[in-house]
Amino acid sequence: MIRFYCAETYEGMSARAATFMAAQVLAKPDSVIGLATGSTPIGMYTALADKCSRGEITFKDVRTVNLDEYYGIDPTHDQSYRYFMNKNFFEKIDICLGNTNVPNGKAEDPQAECARYDALIDSYGGIDMQLLGIGRDGHIGFNEPGDAFIPGTNYIKLTEDTIDANSRFFASADEVPKYALTTGIRAIMQAKKILMVVNGESKAKILEEAFFGPITPANPASILQLHPDVVVCGDAPAMAIIAEKHPEAIIG
Ligand code: PGA
Repeated sequence: MIRFYCAETYEGMSARAATFMAAQVLAKPDSVIGLATGSTPIGMYTALADKCSRGEITFKDVRTVNLDEYYGIDPTHDQSYRYFMNKNFFEKIDICLGNTNVPNGKAEDPQAECARYDALIDSYGGIDMQLLGIGRDGHIGFNEPGDAFIPGTNYIKLTEDTIDANSRFFASADEVPKYALTTGIRAIMQAKKILMVVNGESKAKILEEAFFGPITPANPASILQLHPDVVVCGDAPAMAIIAEKHPEAIIG
């Protein structure tokens, strides 16, 4: 089942998504949360940190597994996803850093790192709530469009579109790493709940196609149509095409 929520603004979307995440942590304080990077979830992370500093929620027993990491980049690099998570979320909440996990982008053997990461997720008993963004090309994590859905954590070559989209964070597109490690479709689909955050007009078309078009590895997010519990929190520009074509799908 997929439930769409549309807020007028990015701030409204972030507050709504933070409420869903906080509810998960309140209901199960030792939740395993799958986390995502990118510009979209930053507002949600800020809202959650505010709830934590007001004493409304605690992350002290929460364990986290991040979706992905660039390959070949040091965790101290300011564009690594480990660095992003520490700065934008972990340092602002009461989580134990030892309970947080990001694929190791400096692992010597990327395939061995993929196997380690899958075993880690299994050892946690899977993911209770998986946070996702969506790429302009439909990617979730760094599961890029292709000919097949890849089940396990995998070592992938980034598409030109993703390199272009992410070049805004680097001095130039040449500096964007070309490879990444990403949790695969199995761990995402086995998560008990999915929480997707999406904002901006540039995502409106791919979002509508993902949830109302064919299920195809050419649009990796489309697999979520088969998940039993998906909440999509969007702002009005991102939800515009869904609001126009499928207004009945938006429940709040
Ligand atoms: P963005 O990235 O939040 O920076 O748009 C989303 C994604 O690529 O998953």
